[in-house]
Amino acid sequence: MSEKTINVAMIGLGFGAEFIPIYQAHPNANVYALCRRDEAALQKSGDMFGIEKRYTDYDDVLADPEVDFVHINSPIPDHAWMSLKALDAGKHVMCTVPMATTIDECRQIVEKVAETGLKYMMAETVVYSREYLYIKQLYETGELGKIQYMQASHPQDMAGWPEYWERMIPMHYATHVVSPVLGLVDGLAEYVSCFGSGSINNELAKKSGNPYAVESCHIKIKDTDISAQIWRFLFDTARQYRESFDVYGTKKSFEWSLVEGEPHVLHTAKLPEHEIASHVEIPDFAHLLPEPIQKFTQSIEDADHLSFIQGGGHGGSHPHLVNEMISALLEDRDPLPNAVTSANWTCVGICAHESTKKGGEIVRLPEFTLQKPSPRKTVTAS
Ligand SMILES: NC(=O)c1ccc[n+]([C@@H]2O[C@H](COP(=O)([O-])OP(=O)(O)OC[C@H]3O[C@@H](n4cnc5c(N)ncnc54)[C@H](O)[C@@H]3O)[C@@H](O)[C@H]2O)c1
Repeated sequence: MSEKTINVAMIGLGFGAEFIPIYQAHPNANVYALCRRDEAALQKSGDMFGIEKRYTDYDDVLADPEVDFVHINSPIPDHAWMSLKALDAGKHVMCTVPMATTIDECRQIVEKVAETGLKYMMAETVVYSREYLYIKQLYETGELGKIQYMQASHPQDMAGWPEYWERMIPMHYATHVVSPVLGLVDGLAEYVSCFGSGSINNELAKKSGNPYAVESCHIKIKDTDISAQIWRFLFDTARQYRESFDVYGTKKSFEWSLVEGEPHVLHTAKLPEHEIASHVEIPDFAHLLPEPIQKFTQSIEDADHLSFIQGGGHGGSHPHLVNEMISALLEDRDPLPNAVTSANWTCVGICAHESTKKGGEIVRLPEFTLQKPSPRKTVTAS
């Protein structure tokens, strides 16, 4: 293992604070600086985690030569401009989802990464969750057989979240459902068709510019015969939070539980009918991580944050995200997902909403998102 230490500056300390103890325990990472706009809250976090460098102004972070990369956890409208500014300042970027909310911003980030050779990673939690890693392992070891179909859902009532969510469009925050269906088969989306259904109240519709309650999208996966279906809502629809992912193979299929905390189901083909379905216990994948951060697949630092109350700890993904970015920087390789893949995953949602506005017309993903990264196994046999 390398002895090199990489300096991260954490930007945004709501959800972002959860990652600080993980970086602090990682043998090759150092939380060099914190940044948030609220001075009092910044000082409180700095004292709590024992971090000296504290900035309220993002530009000051970028001017600091000691910062190797920024981990951005600011509100969604800030992701793109903050990522672009960091790349301009010569910093690598890890940014929470989504990459951006327009195709043009995604294009600019992809171009800047190509120009500068800096690393960009979208910190998508789902593709490092234990359920995803388990299904990926079943797929890579041939247990699922050939994939025939996938579907994913992310219903989440955002009442009570920060105000900017009221200005959001469901499919503009779709990476938690796009990423597993594309990531599993190392695929990229080629085109989409999306329908809007139902309606949200007038006040929210005016604020966001989106009238629909639910957006439901079919994705054609490039260079495969597979299509997948994903759906989302943010407001005015009754359902418990769920980030589900179902995969149908020729030999085995995985179906997510309907209610949080209940067991998932594995179906095995060619068994007597009553033996086809069985409950499955999902193993943990902490063994893929350096020992000092293995405990973080189970423990949640900021358990009161709404994302944990609703999201059940994001499947133990946080230490895997940290380790992926640090490893990519140490090994001078692209992280997974890299900028192009992050753009493809993000642009599915943006193109889907465009399709909704045209009554479900097919919308093709932009060319700059269609360059496949070299294949890399995420999970080795446990
Ligand atoms: N599963 C997931 O991947 C997941 C879960 C939860 C949240 N998130 C993402 O994390 C982000 C933050 O969510 P949250 O709930 O913590 O939001 P929040 O609004 O509670 O916190 C945002 C933080 O960013 C800081 N900030 C905002 N503008 C800034 C600026 N210009 N300079 C420096 N700091 C700035 C704020 O001070 C605050 O600390 C969102 O983009 C959300 O999508 C992802």
